[in-house]
Amino acid sequence: MFKGLMTWVDDRFPATKMWNEHLAQYYAPKNFNFWYFFGSLALLVLVIQIVSGIFLTMHYKPDGALAFASVEYIMRDVPYGWLIRYIHSTGATAFFVVVYLHMFRGLMYGSFKKPRELVWLFGMFIYLALMAEAFMGYLLPWGQMSYWGAQVIISLFGALPIIGEPLTLWIRGDYVISDATLNRFFALHVAAIPLVIIGLVVAHIIALHEVGSNNPEGIEIKKNKDENGIPLDGIPFHPYYSVKDIVGVIVFLFFFSAVLFFAPEGGGYLLEHANFIPSDPLKTPEHIAPVWYFTPFYAILRAVPDKLMGVIAMGGSIVVLFLLPWIDQCKVKSIRYRGTSFKILLVAFVVAFLSLGWLGMQPATPLLTNLARIFSVIYFGFFIALYFTSKNEKTKPVPERIN
Ligand code: HEM
Repeated sequence: MFKGLMTWVDDRFPATKMWNEHLAQYYAPKNFNFWYFFGSLALLVLVIQIVSGIFLTMHYKPDGALAFASVEYIMRDVPYGWLIRYIHSTGATAFFVVVYLHMFRGLMYGSFKKPRELVWLFGMFIYLALMAEAFMGYLLPWGQMSYWGAQVIISLFGALPIIGEPLTLWIRGDYVISDATLNRFFALHVAAIPLVIIGLVVAHIIALHEVGSNNPEGIEIKKNKDENGIPLDGIPFHPYYSVKDIVGVIVFLFFFSAVLFFAPEGGGYLLEHANFIPSDPLKTPEHIAPVWYFTPFYAILRAVPDKLMGVIAMGGSIVVLFLLPWIDQCKVKSIRYRGTSFKILLVAFVVAFLSLGWLGMQPATPLLTNLARIFSVIYFGFFIALYFTSKNEKTKPVPERIN
């Protein structure tokens, strides 16, 4: 009966064809390791966010007079409302943890290099959209940090010459953050940006499946095929990796649940203390800091004394990631066979990124600001040094086959 039904469907819609192309006959390298869990985990978190977000939207009120109280209502009165809200807020953190690890894997194994430049670029656009999504979502609880965080970030656009002031007015829809801002951020957060993210994720995966996955050895498995055109070092994604990914999902859910049930506020790092106070346009919180996933870029912004230059540096620190496929000119992909210079640069980059993340959470004292300057120079220095060293890097010979 099932076979008959599938034949009926396949005559009208390429269901089996798509299943084979993307799962049962998608040949992935046989040596995927720990780092290859994070793509499927990012997909899982995307689904978690969409589902929990839909349920939150059923009870949330996007209105300056009602928003804060509606979140408290969700937390106290809606059956399991606390669970839905904490799933969504913990999910935001999980999304960035997973995506940062996913991007780091790309850096280590050179997954952004030819022929996967577009996979990387789609990924970077996803990352941008994700940042916009998180920023707009953070305004919705309408607490003090929602309000003042949005105030600080939107006012940055005011530093741009000529268009700055009209642009901030256009984004806010008012002279200050107000009900109008809340309404448009709600619309963008629940409808527009999720659609963009889903579209980009589809493009990301189609592009990946067109060229095939990279792997920890950085060997192109399509170069060695058997007489049927199947890569000798490939295995069908389903069932081998679909089953393997379930292990990743279970381990992930273990950590996710630990945060969700035991530390959903994360000591004020995941949900900031000031956000449990209703927004007050007349009272600025003592210390305004974005959530942890934005702090590296916030530290770069504050490290530059001039506001416009700070905004340019902050924008530049993200733009430069888009250019990575053309900055890194080394023919060898995987860190396993790359030269010492690359390994040193990568370690310096990670240290700078993490340090900037910490500094972005701290009040800007003169000492910490100077430290942020040093790490900002290292951050950009990574890309500049990579551009000049990668061409003539002393690499090790890459094997022909995955053994
Ligand atoms: C919602 C966010 C994202 C989702 C759902 C997602 C999903 C995936 C999936 C399912 C894979 C294949 C499995 C794997 O290699 O782990 C993949 C591969 C890849 N992704 Fe993403 N991704 C996301 C964000 C990003 C971002 C932000 C970047 C980088 C800017 C990126 C870069 C890559 C690259 C380069 C590959 C190929 C890796 C390789 O073959 O070695 N992705 N992605």
